[in-house]
Amino acid sequence: MRAWIAHRYGPPEVLRLAEIPDPQPGPGQALVRVRAIGLNFADCMARAGVYPNTPKPPFVPGMEVAGEVAALGEGVTEPPVGTAVAAVPIFGGHAEYVVVKASHLRPLPSGLSFVEGASFVVTGLTADHALFTVGRVRPGERVAILAAAGGVGTLAVQMAVRAGAHVLGVASSPAKRELVRQLGAQEVVGYETYPQALRGGVDVVLDSVAGRLFRLGWRALRPDGRYVLFGFASAVGPRRIRYLRAAVELVRMGVVLPAALVQSCRTLAGFNLSLVPHLAPHLVQRYQLLCQSLQNGELKPVIGKVFTFSELSSAHAFLQGRGSFAKVVVTVP
Ligand SMILES: NC(=O)c1ccc[n+]([C@@H]2O[C@H](COP(=O)([O-])OP(=O)(O)OC[C@H]3O[C@@H](n4cnc5c(N)ncnc54)[C@H](OP(=O)(O)O)[C@@H]3O)[C@@H](O)[C@H]2O)c1
Repeated sequence: MRAWIAHRYGPPEVLRLAEIPDPQPGPGQALVRVRAIGLNFADCMARAGVYPNTPKPPFVPGMEVAGEVAALGEGVTEPPVGTAVAAVPIFGGHAEYVVVKASHLRPLPSGLSFVEGASFVVTGLTADHALFTVGRVRPGERVAILAAAGGVGTLAVQMAVRAGAHVLGVASSPAKRELVRQLGAQEVVGYETYPQALRGGVDVVLDSVAGRLFRLGWRALRPDGRYVLFGFASAVGPRRIRYLRAAVELVRMGVVLPAALVQSCRTLAGFNLSLVPHLAPHLVQRYQLLCQSLQNGELKPVIGKVFTFSELSSAHAFLQGRGSFAKVVVTVP
């Protein structure tokens, strides 16, 4: 099969398309013929060597795919060969075939294309977890969402609006802000005017950018406010991780004194869904609710740009270079 291999950690050019032996499913596993790859910011971090548990190069990155079950390993009977599924292998998905634990495969909601199927699992579960499990968003609350035009952001905005929250979306360009507006956010600002927009206070902040923006949102939290940190995009340059800038941004986040949390009645929480396997049963339940919302039209997958398999390295550059809108998907012939 063909697969994109990161020969070393580094910028998008370290990815090379190569022929490698087809993987074989072992006991408890299934082989998925990949039809579409959902690109996640985490794939860029893995390629750069800064994502948790990234294998040593050479390795095949690829967190999320949609495709068909092509073969089943020993002891596996479900889902049958040919079933359209979504899978989150974390690594290995930038390939024509990937082996996944069979119990981790999820049938695609009917009516969804492979491109749509590769667009919502990681982003949807992340948005859902940040808003409702960690952020405990309630109707009427003011919720700030950073990088609101991105993959996670476009779903988070829709979910928060649907839950009756008042959304303050933050995005870097006028075109991105227009998209966030169209998705229903009541207020949309750029990062320059974010400090002024925070003046009225916020109940919840969804922050995947971090750095100096953290301090602004943290100070603006109302009593009982919840700050949800789940990414550090400000550490990333258009091609490489900016280690010096990351260190500066980290320092500019400041220090949070645990004792001060009591009197200020605020919650600071963080998560990385790939590091909490014990949440799997909870996430399966949330996945089912997510699928229902997609099927009844309450939630729409927002696909930005679709690349072909041979353009995958350019798709990485596009996402990391901050030009992307919504979800970037790569089709596999
Ligand atoms: N913890 C978890 O479990 C988990 C799971 C999934 C995703 N995440 C995190 O959630 C965030 C969104 O993921 P995604 O895959 O949907 O990506 P994405 O939002 O489609 O793309 C990242 C966005 O971050 C913003 N950004 C701010 N500073 C940036 C910088 N220096 N370089 C590049 N982008 C920058 C950009 O939007 P603007 O130009 O509008 O600022 C960009 O579009 C990422 O930070 C990711 O690591 C965390």
